[in-house]
Amino acid sequence: MQIVEATWERRNLGMDVQEIILDGIDVEQEDSLPGKINHLRLAADYTVLKIPVGHISLLSRFLREDFLFLECQYLISKNLEEYVCPRKARLIKDGVTYAEVPKNASDWGKIVEKIGTMFSMDRISLDPAFGKSFATVRYANWIKDSIEKVDYSLYSLLTNGKTAGFCLSSYDRDTANANIVLNGIFEGYQGKGLGIAIIHYPIFAALEKGCKKILTAISSNNTALFKLYPLFEFIVEESYYVLRYLR
Ligand SMILES: CC(C)(COP(=O)(O)OP(=O)(O)OC[C@H]1O[C@@H](n2cnc3c(N)ncnc32)[C@H](O)[C@@H]1OP(=O)(O)O)[C@@H](O)C(=O)NCCC(=O)NCCS
Repeated sequence: MQIVEATWERRNLGMDVQEIILDGIDVEQEDSLPGKINHLRLAADYTVLKIPVGHISLLSRFLREDFLFLECQYLISKNLEEYVCPRKARLIKDGVTYAEVPKNASDWGKIVEKIGTMFSMDRISLDPAFGKSFATVRYANWIKDSIEKVDYSLYSLLTNGKTAGFCLSSYDRDTANANIVLNGIFEGYQGKGLGIAIIHYPIFAALEKGCKKILTAISSNNTALFKLYPLFEFIVEESYYVLRYLR
């Protein structure tokens, strides 16, 4: 079991947040686990619990303990060795380009300003206890904090010179893995076929940096992503039921 004290969430959600991620050994202890978690959950105002999928009886026990089911989360990856660009990505229109945002507060801030309520399928946005405005603050802070991290880069997606989306990526020099941390198409540009570009270009940037693999996490609430990532033949590495408990 991994317990993460999500201290950065205090400023986003105004409360103490922890994440408990269960592993294969934890889920074997079905009789004692709920009691253990019920004790651990008292340590924070808001507890996120991730259970490896397939353990329905365990899931039902936590639901009876006032946990709310939020989503399935899938950690997905694509091996970039011998990468072949899918045909649909080769058809992205000429006016659609991708550019790294200079690493300074002013330029990154211009991307942050455009977030609005675009993250409408996010688990904070969909949670009746929070909603879109909390998600907006959370993602804005996430991007702003990432400027301090040397391995993080921010990119903008442009369509005919207008900023239509962004991608925050990280690169791990030791593993040669790239990670799509956050990406998306801004409101007003969504639903117009640009989704493929905000996956294609981060892959392209990762290849240019010599990365061998690219990873990301997607939510079962976000149907569009289940149409987009399979085009690039991403595979699922890990899957979790994600629940939360509010003290
Ligand atoms: C998810 C997202 C990237 C998709 O991009 P988009 O430009 O809106 O989507 P597209 O127009 O390219 O559509 C891609 C496919 O998804 C489908 N789709 C788009 N929005 C959808 C929705 N809300 N529900 C179901 N399907 C949807 C489209 O019909 C299309 O399918 P098709 O190829 O079978 O026609 C974009 O909506 C977005 O940025 N959302 C908010 C932020 C986000 O969720 N980021 C990702 C995780 S960090």
